[in-house]
Amino acid sequence: MAGVGSSVPATVLTNKDLEKLVETNDEWIASRTGIRQRRILGAGESLSEHAARAGERALEMAGVVAADVDIVILATSSPDDVFGSACQVQALLGASRAVAFDLTAACSGFVLALVTGTQYIRTGTAKNVLVIGADALSRYVDWRDRSTCILFGDGCGAVLLSAHEGACSLLGSSLHSDGNGQKHLKAAFAGKGNKALDNGVASTAGAFDNILMNGQEVFKFAVRAVPTVVEAALADADLAVTDIDWLLLHQANQRILDSAAQRLGVAPERVVSNLANYGNTSAASIPLALDEAVRSGSIAPGSTVAMAGFGAGLTWASAIVKW
Ligand code: ACO
Repeated sequence: MAGVGSSVPATVLTNKDLEKLVETNDEWIASRTGIRQRRILGAGESLSEHAARAGERALEMAGVVAADVDIVILATSSPDDVFGSACQVQALLGASRAVAFDLTAACSGFVLALVTGTQYIRTGTAKNVLVIGADALSRYVDWRDRSTCILFGDGCGAVLLSAHEGACSLLGSSLHSDGNGQKHLKAAFAGKGNKALDNGVASTAGAFDNILMNGQEVFKFAVRAVPTVVEAALADADLAVTDIDWLLLHQANQRILDSAAQRLGVAPERVVSNLANYGNTSAASIPLALDEAVRSGSIAPGSTVAMAGFGAGLTWASAIVKW
């Protein structure tokens, strides 16, 4: 992991602002989730631009130029284009030699993209892989649904993976999914009637629904799955919980972070959290928090970081990395 960067929209939506939209209050949101404010992609802003900016910052830190990037993997569930946004990000970066593609695995997307990118490095297929987590779930939020609209925010984070002799940042991993749990958290395509074609054939017309979530089921799933998947990734790395310097989980809810840390036996001061400022930014949350922690000096070179993403799919995944 040679560089990290992030970019978030300028528009801030506070809990107080949400009090004007739904029956809620700052105290309820902060005590149940830890969130105080989130960023929202404004009209005219594109997710691809923020993803590219996050990528640029990661390249800058690594001292690598865009022309030397071999692969761009964009983890997102809310691209600017239904065909994917990775190629747009590639164009904005000027990474003209790279092949770019999207990877969709909701809030586990960044961890899955990181593990995917590492495979290209390990096999010698690529020297520089830019892994970006980017989401604007505000696009799919029902602003009348107080059980979901308080949670999500928009943002992007990126990590540059570079080949180095004898060293690999990814020490171990554990990746899972279970489609049987899709009903608990989804933003599904909703057919809204048929478009009749000239030859009498009818094709489905429609759009994606807003986010539907059974918060309590997702909560129970997360507090069960996260400690287990981190332990499995640690076992894959031949490490123990005591070897972890930092626990960096998908930023969904402070209570989930606290519960997972407690079950694992990780001290609260070793848990990275920026939920208060950004809310749940889906695939962006881990690299966004990593960027802040690295630039502020809390995550120092050589630190062992246990990451875990979890969310829609259902998906859950952990990667143990050496920063
Ligand atoms: N403001 C005020 N009251 C509210 C709000 C709100 N925003 N939302 C719900 N309430 C009320 C409910 O109506 C309920 O009232 P009642 O007791 O009169 O029926 C009460 O508060 C408690 O509701 P619960 O749903 O039991 O609240 P809970 O403590 O479970 O917190 C929350 C809800 C924050 C959504 C929690 O369940 C949670 O964080 N779940 C996990 C969600 C998550 O992480 N999702 C993202 C996964 S990542 C991805 O893939 C996108």
